[in-house]
Amino acid sequence: MSRQPVKLMPSALPWVAGVSAAIAIIPVVCAVNLVRGDNLRETTIAQAIGGDPDRAVPAMIRNGCGGCHEIPGVPGARGTVGPSLQGVVERGYTGPSRATPDAMMRWISRARDVDPKTAMPNTNLSPQEARDITAYLYART
Ligand code: HEC
Repeated sequence: MSRQPVKLMPSALPWVAGVSAAIAIIPVVCAVNLVRGDNLRETTIAQAIGGDPDRAVPAMIRNGCGGCHEIPGVPGARGTVGPSLQGVVERGYTGPSRATPDAMMRWISRARDVDPKTAMPNTNLSPQEARDITAYLYART
């Protein structure tokens, strides 16, 4: 027994096409907005901090941060001496001394001056390196 192909009424076709197109476009619009929102957030953070997250990856490689930390987006950064920097800004572990960009810049440059007993050494970053890395930590981890 052969099945008859389902026939749509010609008048229903534009409607079906319209609804299908609308359904197909929803994920696209959502994705575009997500990406836009992320870029906007990152640009705002970078401007507020005065750092460029793109320069942070080479700066972190140069300064050996990845030898002690796991850092998302930094090749080879799989150290376990210090905590992973994934979500470091939101995480509770970030004590009050590191809760603002200024405190973060100070910590990542001269941790021992902040806490003489910390296992993190002074890295003596340049002020611009500290800004770039802080912008990265705020925007991308
Ligand atoms: C010799 C190992 C070592 C190196 C190199 C190092 N760190 Fe650390 N870092 C640590 C340790 C250990 C801690 C935890 C110290 C503490 O809480 O007293 C830490 C803590 C931190 C924190 C705070 C983490 C949190 O959850 O509050 C940040 C941010 C950080 N390091 C960033 C960096 C950056 C950026 C670099 C490179 C410029 C770097 N570290 C280089 C060992 C290191």
